[in-house]
Amino acid sequence: MTVDELVGRNEWQEVNEKYRRPFVVYKFAATLDGRIAATDGTSQWITSPESRAEVHLLRAGCQATIVGSGTQQADNPNLAVRGNDDPRLNLSHVSEPWKQPYRVIVDTEAKTPRDANVLNDAAPTIIAVADDTDASHLEDLAEVVKVRRGTKGLDIQILLEELYNRQIHGVFLEGGPTLAGSFVAAGVVDRVVNYIAPAMLGEGKSGLIGSGIQTMSDILRLELIEVSRSGPDIRVVARPKR
Ligand SMILES: NC(=O)c1ccc[n+]([C@@H]2O[C@H](COP(=O)([O-])OP(=O)(O)OC[C@H]3O[C@@H](n4cnc5c(N)ncnc54)[C@H](OP(=O)(O)O)[C@@H]3O)[C@@H](O)[C@H]2O)c1
Repeated sequence: MTVDELVGRNEWQEVNEKYRRPFVVYKFAATLDGRIAATDGTSQWITSPESRAEVHLLRAGCQATIVGSGTQQADNPNLAVRGNDDPRLNLSHVSEPWKQPYRVIVDTEAKTPRDANVLNDAAPTIIAVADDTDASHLEDLAEVVKVRRGTKGLDIQILLEELYNRQIHGVFLEGGPTLAGSFVAAGVVDRVVNYIAPAMLGEGKSGLIGSGIQTMSDILRLELIEVSRSGPDIRVVARPKR
């Protein structure tokens, strides 16, 4: 599959026009037993260098990469697309013109520290905070977007509306599982890309927390689009059945 096919480009417009929000791709890396991190919170690196390089191409195929404040604090990720200096990374696979996607941190209380990697100059950054949070200490380093509070953290629909108003039509949600759970609960995940490493962790968080799924009748069934190998890992591409 091409990068455009993996991130569901041909479905973006329909979602954009129908819901006035960006198309959402939820990507996560897990073990065979469905863990996305060890019990101590470490998760780098569950999958192989090949899969991680591919993730950079998928990021480049979208217009914003989103993570929750939990992931910012646990991993201090950079989230910018690496350049062609990595031999595994061939950015010519991404439709032209592409530019560094926004890095979006969903950070209700503006806890992202000023020296966080997402605040470097590798790509533009949006810090989404609650409308009653003082984020003036971040305003010279990132665009601060104020969003109404939801039942948990920020209201996901309003967050997506704000991104859509900035001409962001497709986003790459990279977790963590608490934020992804709220996206699923809000019914705004359009595609799932899951890299599965042939490994087991036994304990640790799974790919979704707080999604509101309590019993088998609530199960979120997915329609399989493709299953293939990514280096030593398995890549599964699926979409929620509507
Ligand atoms: N394997 C993978 O693919 C992968 C990917 C990413 C992360 N991880 C791992 O996952 C762990 C972090 O995940 P996490 O679940 O603790 O954190 P998370 O999902 O990254 O962030 C959760 C936080 O986001 C904020 N938030 C704001 N609005 C929200 C909303 N509507 N719904 C939910 N959260 C909202 C909340 O904090 P505030 O309200 O205080 O802002 C919440 O605690 C780390 O161990 C990391 O290494 C693994």
